[in-house]
Amino acid sequence: MGSLWLLDIFLSLLIHICLPATSALSMAQPGCNDTCGNISVPYPFGMGNTNCYRDSGFQVICNDTFYDPPKLFNMANQEILDISLQGQQRILNYVSRDCYNSQGDSTCENRREYDYLYNNTFTISDTENKFTVLGCDTEAYFSTNGTVSKSGCIMSCLNEQISINGSCDGIGCCQTSIPKGFGYISIAVSSNNNHTLVHDFNPCGYAFIVDYNWYNFSTSDILNFTHNIDETGYPRVPVVVDWAIAWEKSNSSCKEAMKNQTSYACGSNSVCNDSKNGLGYICSCSQGYHGNPNLQDGCQDIDECTDPNYNYCPGSCSCVNLLGTYNCFYPHDYRRDNLCSIDPIPVKTVNVAFFIGGGLVLSSLLFGCLWLFKVLKKRKKNKLKKKFFQENGGFLLQQQISSENGNIEKTKLFSDEELKKATDNYNENRILGQGGQGTVYKGMLLDGRIVAIKKSKGVHDQGQIEQFINEIALLSQINHRNVVKLFGCCLETEVPMLVYEFISNGTLFSHIHGNSTGEFSFTWDSRLRIAIEVAQALAYLHSAASIPIYHRDIKSSNILLDDRFIAKVSDFGISRSVSTDKTHLTVTLVQGTFGYLDPEYFQSSQFTDKSDVYSFAVVLLELLTGRKPISSTRSEEKSLVTEFICSMDENRLFEILDAQVVEEVKKEELEAIAIIAKRCLDMNGKKRPTMREVAAKLEGLRASPSETLFVQRNEEHEDCIITESIGLWDTSSVSTTSCTTSWTSVAIPLDDRPLLHNSSSQIIDS
Ligand SMILES: *[C@@H]1O[C@H](CO)[C@@H](O)[C@H](O)[C@H]1NC(C)=O
Ligand SMILES: *[C@@H]1O[C@H](CO)[C@@H](O)[C@H](O)[C@H]1NC(C)=O
Ligand SMILES: *[C@@H]1O[C@H](CO)[C@@H](O)[C@H](O)[C@H]1NC(C)=O
Ligand SMILES: *[C@@H]1O[C@H](CO)[C@@H](O)[C@H](O)[C@H]1NC(C)=O
Ligand SMILES: *[C@@H]1O[C@H](CO)[C@@H](O)[C@H](O)[C@H]1NC(C)=O
Ligand SMILES: *[C@@H]1O[C@H](CO)[C@@H](O)[C@H](O)[C@H]1NC(C)=O
Ligand SMILES: *[C@@H]1O[C@H](CO)[C@@H](O)[C@H](O)[C@H]1NC(C)=O
Ligand SMILES: *[C@@H]1O[C@H](CO)[C@@H](O)[C@H](O)[C@H]1NC(C)=O
Ligand SMILES: *[C@@H]1O[C@H](CO)[C@@H](O)[C@H](O)[C@H]1NC(C)=O
Ligand SMILES: *[C@@H]1O[C@H](CO)[C@@H](O)[C@H](O)[C@H]1NC(C)=O
Ligand SMILES: *[C@@H]1O[C@H](CO)[C@@H](O)[C@H](O)[C@H]1NC(C)=O
Ligand SMILES: *[C@@H]1O[C@H](CO)[C@@H](O)[C@H](O)[C@H]1NC(C)=O
Repeated sequence: MGSLWLLDIFLSLLIHICLPATSALSMAQPGCNDTCGNISVPYPFGMGNTNCYRDSGFQVICNDTFYDPPKLFNMANQEILDISLQGQQRILNYVSRDCYNSQGDSTCENRREYDYLYNNTFTISDTENKFTVLGCDTEAYFSTNGTVSKSGCIMSCLNEQISINGSCDGIGCCQTSIPKGFGYISIAVSSNNNHTLVHDFNPCGYAFIVDYNWYNFSTSDILNFTHNIDETGYPRVPVVVDWAIAWEKSNSSCKEAMKNQTSYACGSNSVCNDSKNGLGYICSCSQGYHGNPNLQDGCQDIDECTDPNYNYCPGSCSCVNLLGTYNCFYPHDYRRDNLCSIDPIPVKTVNVAFFIGGGLVLSSLLFGCLWLFKVLKKRKKNKLKKKFFQENGGFLLQQQISSENGNIEKTKLFSDEELKKATDNYNENRILGQGGQGTVYKGMLLDGRIVAIKKSKGVHDQGQIEQFINEIALLSQINHRNVVKLFGCCLETEVPMLVYEFISNGTLFSHIHGNSTGEFSFTWDSRLRIAIEVAQALAYLHSAASIPIYHRDIKSSNILLDDRFIAKVSDFGISRSVSTDKTHLTVTLVQGTFGYLDPEYFQSSQFTDKSDVYSFAVVLLELLTGRKPISSTRSEEKSLVTEFICSMDENRLFEILDAQVVEEVKKEELEAIAIIAKRCLDMNGKKRPTMREVAAKLEGLRASPSETLFVQRNEEHEDCIITESIGLWDTSSVSTTSCTTSWTSVAIPLDDRPLLHNSSSQIIDS
């Protein structure tokens, strides 16, 4: 019993020494106000004295003289609705409006810009907001300064009755996602017919970025959008803005910031997280603590025993609060093996009979406590793993496993530890590349296999998760020497990960266009062989695999070369399988890479096997000419496809081909290949050959290069014109995000040249 008594003393000591009396938590620096009306203003935000806010970016003003209840403003005079410690605030921002009178004369300005360039501190949340456009004769797009792309919606509808309240479905209302990492997005709204045909129910077009949880479309908004109008009658909408702590013009991550403890913002008992949207970091209180992590002693222990949200001790047990956690004991009997916690904790180390003297008891207890903390931490970690598995679509995959014919069993599920070991804890110098979908690391598994590990980017976005599971499901059905092999995946980490065979020699793109590292001589034979390998892989995907698979993003940067320079098709993120009785796939979102995108698919939103054929032909052209699909030489962007077709029409094919190729290969053979390419680029998908035919023709050419295999010269000249309008598009590899109805929405090109207006109105008319 003596030892129990000691234990009692120890516990009460622990409680009294370690837990300072908690006072009411203030969210602001001492002497500063932490509320404005009922809006909480936590440090680093602050008002009044300069010591009340961290830097000028966080300065806010509470206007209680003019408004009752008081309103909070930032220094750009935007009203702040709330500020959360999780790195977000909501502000009211102006709606871009484009209004006309019944004669079709413009009555108001049509452009408003979002300006949030406070030294990296603020970015517009890409997860909480949507770009939203309202109107029935409206064309609106947004653009960011960082990229040269524009994206948006075009809508025309002649009758308000077809719009449905609460449903932003592309008729009268259209929504699309915005990109990550921008503090500045500009918006432009315009109209094709000056609203003359729809003026009685829709005199204005509206475009805005809005907290999508807040906005619920109503048909009355098309008539007159009157949410949150300010003193001058201008409507405003809430926007979620991410904030983070950052230094001007520097990429301050947690790792960097911790190096300078004087400027490091996170106080005691807090953890630091890098911002998920842009630069900077966010502090949060450690588990078991609450308060404001941005203050030196802002995080205070939660007294779980008095907080009804936490105290889960069964009725007869007493609760003991510990720093960061708590425990349940049978009353007056604080023996380790008397712990009555909700999940039984394996108890081994502390055996009462073992104690001989008081000193020994205390030290053993200390160890015991440390060990207990460890156990609890581990348990927490395991729970987290399960949670991630769910979030990462583990169940979706399990569904796939049960619905497919068990092929997926070959796909191994890797553990977090295995992959951490393999990549040296995701060491930066293991990074092979970074792309739209995520980061790729090089790693070595325990069995010595070298692998490429793709760490997906967006986790909490359901669409991304589906893409991801899709890639796993598709790839695990494919077994072809020219398709990259998937070894397995890992779903128990925060972001899902895919494990592939490692392909050592980089992308075809870098070999054709980069300053290739010498050793691989790009002879005609190897070019032709690569073309054949890719064609065979695609032919296999289209017809030989158990269900047809359309790759949908064929481009030279998705073709990898292994150590013997054998081509491997990769990146199946947006690929789709189709049931055998279908000939096409109707999509709500035109995706792909400009320069490779089948114009017919772009116009009809119907992806067929022939759209892959088109993209393949562009790769073939790259191999033949050594040029990029879109080159922006001189102030002008040129489409390789257009140039190629025009050069064939004008009988000067050999000017455009790679000089080395022309030197090496017979004229007839080149002509034969050029004709194959041209047929694959036919504007009419039906006239294009299938991938199987292409593969066979190319193989035939390689086997007997002297025979000209087939010649077909009934060329159509309008090809030149239509492909030109595609050539105006953005050169960088962006996927066009557009709204959900296929005929109303297209991404907006860089240039508003008249040619393009024609082609988009064609889409609408059809
Ligand atoms: C805090 O705000 C209230 C009302 O908004 C004001 O009366 C008070 O003086 C402020 N206190 C400080 C310390 O600024
Ligand atoms: C603040 O008060 C306004 C009305 O006075 C109310 O609409 C709003 O929900 C309140 N905000 C919070 C965060 O309590
Ligand atoms: C409060 O708002 C009114 C109206 O916008 C403005 O005139 C006044 O200067 C503001 N007061 C403060 C303290 O900012
Ligand atoms: C946007 O980019 C242009 C050139 O790319 C630059 O001149 C301009 O200053 C940038 N604007 C902002 C607000 O960063
Ligand atoms: C949006 O409005 C529709 C129709 O008015 C309503 O049925 C729906 O519940 C609303 N949704 C939200 C999230 O408020
Ligand atoms: C629209 O308005 C502009 C100027 O306000 C005018 O130049 C143009 O002709 C009008 N277009 C139509 C279709 O009415
Ligand atoms: C949608 O709701 C608004 C008001 O909330 C109402 O005036 C309008 O008639 C409704 N429209 C439809 C099609 O139900
Ligand atoms: C729209 O509503 C505002 C505020 O209710 C009003 O001032 C304005 O005149 C209305 N505009 C139209 C075109 O009805
Ligand atoms: C942020 O930028 C503004 C203007 O460039 C400058 O006055 C301010 O000192 C900067 N703040 C920080 C923390 O660098
Ligand atoms: C930003 O990060 C990169 C890579 O980590 C580093 O090379 C660069 O020096 C950093 N820039 C600043 C201003 O800290
Ligand atoms: C650390 O931050 C403080 C405060 O901003 C600054 O004065 C100091 O120069 C920084 N030290 C280093 C080594 O960068
Ligand atoms: C911050 O990171 C910790 C792990 O380092 C994680 O447990 C926590 O959920 C993260 N918090 C946020 C807000 O992302």
